[in-house]
Amino acid sequence: MSAQPSQDAAEWFDVGAPADFEDGEVAPVVADGIEMALFRIGDDLFALRDKCTHGRTKLSDGFIEDDCIECPLHQGKFAIRTGEPMSEPVTKAVKVFPVRVVDGRVQVSTAA
Ligand code: FES
Repeated sequence: MSAQPSQDAAEWFDVGAPADFEDGEVAPVVADGIEMALFRIGDDLFALRDKCTHGRTKLSDGFIEDDCIECPLHQGKFAIRTGEPMSEPVTKAVKVFPVRVVDGRVQVSTAA
């Protein structure tokens, strides 16, 4: 799905409704041209850059286990909450983007 800038702050981008993201699932979204993998864990939402730091594989094609996303190519794992590498061969964290829910819409920020 494509994101549009929110009306109140240009750095936040609408990526859908909270119900679009199911618990324990990952969905690819694009905000300001940046591909992200958006996760729901319980009531919390997390956005990671949708690219493994070990290669060019999309993390949104990976597998979720124990609050980690496993890369589908070489099975490296990242912590969904922090982006930190959790198992070889990944050694570099993946970028985490801020997520918020405003007026019933999920927004992500591309800010550092
Ligand atoms: Fe992701 Fe190698 S490309 S672990």
